[in-house]
Amino acid sequence: MPKIVIAIDGYSSCGKSTTAKAVAARMGYAYIDTGAMYRAVSLFFSREHVSLSNTGDVLNALDKIHITFNFNGRTGKNETCLNGLNVEEEIRTMFISNIVSEVSAIPEVRWAMVAQQQKMGRKRGVVMDGRDIGTKVFPDAEVKIFMTADVETRARRRQQELLEKGEMVNLNDIIENLEKRDRIDSTRSESPLVQAPDAVLLDTSHMAIEEQIEWVIEQADTRL
Ligand code: C5P
Repeated sequence: MPKIVIAIDGYSSCGKSTTAKAVAARMGYAYIDTGAMYRAVSLFFSREHVSLSNTGDVLNALDKIHITFNFNGRTGKNETCLNGLNVEEEIRTMFISNIVSEVSAIPEVRWAMVAQQQKMGRKRGVVMDGRDIGTKVFPDAEVKIFMTADVETRARRRQQELLEKGEMVNLNDIIENLEKRDRIDSTRSESPLVQAPDAVLLDTSHMAIEEQIEWVIEQADTRL
C-alpha cells in the first residue's frame, strides 16, 4: 500500500496532537509534533539568553540545537529531546507557551525547522501536526486537515492538560495565551497560519477525541 502524508494544521489546543498521535499509531505511521520542535528551540533560546532581534545570535544558537524524538518504552510516551536530553515536560509549561510564537515567527528559525521536518517526512508514511504543514512543509500532502474549535473549549482542554501535569493556571490566562499565539501565528510574514485552499475544515468544538480520530482516518482511507 502506498504511504501518504497527513498534514494537520490549525489553531492552538484544538486536539491536533492527540488526534494525530492516535491516527499515526493506528495506521502504523510516524508522528511528528512540529510544535514541540518550536517549543524546544524556544527553551534553548531562553536558557542561552539569545537576543531574538539579532540574526547572528539566532543563527549561532540554531547551529547548536539538535532536536530528536524518542519513544520511551517504559512510559509508552513520546519524548522531545533537545541535544539528547528529554525536555518534554519543560517545553509544555506556560512559560514556554508565552514565548514560543515570537520565536517561531523568526524566518531563520522557520527555515531551519521546515528543512528538518521535510527530511523527517521524506519517506512519507507520516502524520505531522503544526501550523504550516499543508501550506509550506508538505504542500503535496495527500490529506490536509485544518482544525478549529471555539476558544473557550480549547482553553478548558488546555487547562485540564496542565492540571494533570500539576500546573494550575487560570482559565482567562489560558484564553489570553491562546488568542495571542493565534494572532501572532496568523499574522507573521513567514508561512503564517492559514487554511490551505485544498484543506478540509474540521471544527472539533463538539467532538470527542475518538470521533476526531475516526474522521481523520476516513479522510485518509479515501486517499489510499
Ligand atoms: O502545537 P503547539 O501549540 O505546541 O505549538 C506551539 C507554537 O509553535 C505555536 O503557537 C506556533 O507559534 C509554533 N508553531 C509554528 N509552526 C508549526 C508548529 C508550531 O509556528 N508548524
